[in-house]
Amino acid sequence: MGKVALITGITGQDGAYLAEYLIKKGYTVHGIKRRSSMFNTERIDHLYQDPHIENRNLILHYGDLTDSLNLTRIIGETQPDEIYNLAAMSHVKVSFDTPEYTANADGLGVLRILEAVRLLNLTSKTRIYQASTSELYGLVQEVPQKETTPFYPRSPYAVAKLYGYWITVNYREAYKMHASNGILFNHESPLRGETFVTRKVTRAVSRIALGMQDNLFMGNLSSKRDWGHAKDYIKAMYLILQQDQPDDYVIATGQTTTIRDFITMSFEEIGLGIEFINKGVDETAILREVNEKTFKEKVGDNYLEEITRKIGKLLVGVDPQYFRPTEVELLIGDASKAKRQLGWEPKYDLKALVSDMISSDLKLMKKEFFLKSGGYQVLNYFE
Ligand code: NAP
Ligand code: GDD
Repeated sequence: MGKVALITGITGQDGAYLAEYLIKKGYTVHGIKRRSSMFNTERIDHLYQDPHIENRNLILHYGDLTDSLNLTRIIGETQPDEIYNLAAMSHVKVSFDTPEYTANADGLGVLRILEAVRLLNLTSKTRIYQASTSELYGLVQEVPQKETTPFYPRSPYAVAKLYGYWITVNYREAYKMHASNGILFNHESPLRGETFVTRKVTRAVSRIALGMQDNLFMGNLSSKRDWGHAKDYIKAMYLILQQDQPDDYVIATGQTTTIRDFITMSFEEIGLGIEFINKGVDETAILREVNEKTFKEKVGDNYLEEITRKIGKLLVGVDPQYFRPTEVELLIGDASKAKRQLGWEPKYDLKALVSDMISSDLKLMKKEFFLKSGGYQVLNYFE
């Protein structure tokens, strides 16, 4: 018999990669999905199995981190060997708009899971992974950040996650539960939500290349992030739960990059050279040159003429609506404990991550472009 895992947040970026990874390892995976007015399962549709199939290895349950009765029932019914608590209102900027909900889901939600495991007498069977975050370091007290660096959260999201972190440690110590925190630094992928900065950029760069969009407006260009690939990071989650002893681990690449440089790298990936000029809210980026060979290779001959006409034009501007009331300016992690104890190391560097995201978004946007132009043709035909 393979192991049973329960993943909260299975419809999210990490949930989708982790579900696929665990199924390949022979697990039966149960996932908790919120009810929504649309399916919202695109990231896991390739794993979906009809409920009439026997011995399914992916089973979805409706649930919500704000509903303890429902969580307790699902945990009782599924009797998981491992719980990966990935569900969260995960957008830092949005947490300033929805602070109470964020505290409920991201803070108390963790308590609900731990307490359900305890009340169901599963403490010696069920191992728990809590999705903690580098946002805990906020106004950083040490560079680089490691497991012993003091926390200084800077958003309602990070404060809620701080509660999640400590309640996990407390249940481990109080009830001897196998409960661990992964303190993961930013990780991205083609499945990243469209409103996080990397995906916002790689989508926009693809659309600009195809002539679907003229320019892109951003918030703070100077903050720095330690970005890795989600495919590497979900492996660390798995490894953390395979250890004999529960513990907390920083997962990071050890490299940090500004948002500005991430944007430059993304344009470079398709042969577009941009230059940032001016400062603060007046900062902009202009298209300076087109490397025709790279552009043709990555994007296609058809779009070259139009992009060449944009040389000297504004591609990136700043819009203060994307600024945060309190910002996390610098994140860079030291994952040497994870390397030493888990044998974990990332395979992707930032260039490979950018390349993966841009090539995926170019494909997606081309499809959208094609469907749209096809749609217009049909409309014109009937007019
Ligand atoms: P994500 O793509 O935003 O996915 C979040 C998941 O949580 C989605 O499945 C979402 O469902 C679900 N969810 C939100 N609120 C819920 C609620 N009240 N009840 C049940 N499910 C709920 O996030 P991610 O990037 O995969 O991150 C996974 C976890 O790691 C999160 O806890 C995040 O805070 C944490 N984390 C992420 C990073 C990172 O860089 N990605 C770094 C450190 C920590 P819907 O699909 O219905 O919205
Ligand atoms: N989203 C967004 N949109 N961010 C922007 C923009 C923009 O237009 N312009 C600049 N930024 C800056 C933000 O101000 C922040 O400094 C940085 O880009 C990264 O923002 P996000 O990609 O939204 O991620 P985050 O670092 O705030 O939070 C992510 O990583 C955390 C781990 O450190 C999320 O995945 C969190 O859930 C996660 O805990």
